[in-house]
Amino acid sequence: MREEKLGKLLASMTLEEKVGQLVQCNAGQFIENKMDITGPDGEILPAEELNRVIGSVLTFEDAAQARALQDKHLAADPHKIPLLLMLDVIHGLRTTYPIPLAMGCSFDDGLMTECADMARKEAAACGVHVTFNPMVDTARDPRWGRILETNSEEPLINSRMGAAFVRTAQGDDLSRKDNIACCVKHYAGYGAPEGGRDYNTVDMSERQLRESYLPAYKACVDAGARLVMPSFNALNGIPSVANRWLMNQVLRGEWGFSGVVVSDYNAVGELVAHGVAENMKDAVRLAMAAGCDIDMVQNAYYLHLAELVREGTVSEEALDKAVLRVLELKNELGLFENPYHGADEAKEREIYLCPEHREIARRAAEESAVLLKNDGILPFPETLRKVALIGPFAEERHLVGFWSRPGAWKDAVTLPEGLKAMLPALEVITERGCGAEIGDTDISGIERAVAAAREAEAVILALGEPENDSGEGRSRADLCLPGPQMELARRVLAANPRTAVLLFNGRPLALTELDAIAPAVLEMWYPGTEAGSAAARLLFGRANPCGKLSAGFPRSVGQCPLPYNRMNTGRPKPQPDSGVFPFTSSYLDSPNLPLYSFGHGLSYTRFETLDLTLSRETIRPDETLQVTVTVRNAGERAGKEVVQLYLRDRAASVVRPVQQLIDYKKVFLKPGETAEVTFDVTEEQLRFWDYECRYVSEPGAFEISTGYADHPEKTRVFTLTKD
Ligand code: BGC
Repeated sequence: MREEKLGKLLASMTLEEKVGQLVQCNAGQFIENKMDITGPDGEILPAEELNRVIGSVLTFEDAAQARALQDKHLAADPHKIPLLLMLDVIHGLRTTYPIPLAMGCSFDDGLMTECADMARKEAAACGVHVTFNPMVDTARDPRWGRILETNSEEPLINSRMGAAFVRTAQGDDLSRKDNIACCVKHYAGYGAPEGGRDYNTVDMSERQLRESYLPAYKACVDAGARLVMPSFNALNGIPSVANRWLMNQVLRGEWGFSGVVVSDYNAVGELVAHGVAENMKDAVRLAMAAGCDIDMVQNAYYLHLAELVREGTVSEEALDKAVLRVLELKNELGLFENPYHGADEAKEREIYLCPEHREIARRAAEESAVLLKNDGILPFPETLRKVALIGPFAEERHLVGFWSRPGAWKDAVTLPEGLKAMLPALEVITERGCGAEIGDTDISGIERAVAAAREAEAVILALGEPENDSGEGRSRADLCLPGPQMELARRVLAANPRTAVLLFNGRPLALTELDAIAPAVLEMWYPGTEAGSAAARLLFGRANPCGKLSAGFPRSVGQCPLPYNRMNTGRPKPQPDSGVFPFTSSYLDSPNLPLYSFGHGLSYTRFETLDLTLSRETIRPDETLQVTVTVRNAGERAGKEVVQLYLRDRAASVVRPVQQLIDYKKVFLKPGETAEVTFDVTEEQLRFWDYECRYVSEPGAFEISTGYADHPEKTRVFTLTKD
């Protein structure tokens, strides 16, 4: 439809019909639907009346439902304005790839692009127009259960992977049937709730917000994301959906965002519970003033917005602008010409779980696994005849993570299935040993597990967190392996020291004791559909682990939050610490550093950093510094290494982090092979929010290092000069 026709359409709509475009309901209000929802239904209103005017629905199952929803709506809407259909496609639709935190560990934007491409195709065939993805909240506290939904604690990774997702899913032309629009979320600071408790308040300086939290949302907006979702939390006292500074000044003003803002689930009505709105009507006034276009599920707009416009509290102009943004998005998606977009049942059958998609999912699972520890027992030789597969995850199929579709777990390959398919002659004795639920105390299965461990040549001990223990509303105050799993681990490791631990979990855990007693620990996260195949290949060396931690693992929950790019203090703990002077920034009962640092991850081969060279010692703002890292595969297997580049500003007008990842590249090296990996460093990468909170660089000395967080391998110094 041509732009001027949209204006005419808008002019022909009644006030109630305009408001309807800003109302979003659960699809389940109009059709039979088995999908999970993450909050209460809004005020239940007569479906017939809603269906006539509403602009969008969320959370439906398949192409058949998408078509039925659209048909039903179009039959009732006097203007025949198609519905927008939205869905959370977070780590794949039917073919599930690893949870986003795991994807971050791949340090591989290209792999993210491949996964996004597969998600886009499957989502489009299902009839999705908009996905609530990417989620790019910086998260530094593993107590927060939604850390699994983000790629990293580091905004650079979130920015690069988030932007890759947006570009791939949206493509160049949204009207193409297999492209979908992206909604970046949760704007802003949602990943820093006090105490790690979901939905909790966030209080931080503007400098911190701009430096560590806003960049990833901005990167996705710059990549063209058509929608933004404000977060549930209050940020410095103001819930995001009512935060005019965040939405009007920063998002629409500074960043020039012209797309649609959709509230999070019930977030408009929740302004009353926050205590910033007296009642629902007041909440609508506040959300409209902050430029929130669509009200998800609460029906607050439906009930109160027309009245607010009639009485002049909300201007008709503001309403029209919001409606026009929604109509423009529908138009860009080509819905006026083809309201079904990509919904296609034959296509669903053709591509869901097709071999090509399964192969991408398997590779992603392999490349996001992180070998945390290995005293040499991994990989197991394929000549093994008998292994014991022990633990609550030994036969588990729920390996796909919180944001997968209901029932997607049924398609996942289990560990025994993966092992059998790869090594048919291998005898696998399986024992659960114990459960993994919080509060589980039943240890009656441990004896049998110990007996199995004794009998076997080697043990695979599969531990972790139940799939639903990380995700929305799933915060934990403890980060140990839940239930009696450590007791199982102690007994099994004592019975058979040739035991490799496999972990399935959605957050960094505190594994101090496990690390002390287990010879090998392989972090699998929730790997998705191809879980068991990827694990089998990694355990027996057909795949070589290359993942690096995208978030550090603390020693204990008491250290959290523990960002790798922490600010220095006036009394940093000396390295090594003689312990003579107690008045340093440290703990009496714990080291400062995490158990496994950000960027850590082992391989079955050994990489050496031979050199780090700079193309010059001094740069001016318009010059580029070339940093070259020479890395060699000094082991006996081919493998991939992630070369990480860290920066430290030695002195500035404000305190700067002790280290900051500024770039990364992944290289494949055959045994004995050497590669030179070159990075371009520009003045822009040296900028920060200065004393006056301006985004600038300051002249002076900078250290550049490679290695991983707190473990620099080579360091060089250069100077930025502005003379
Ligand atoms: C979550 C969002 C999600 C929305 C729709 C909310 O509870 O916070 O991330 O997109 O539900 O399912």
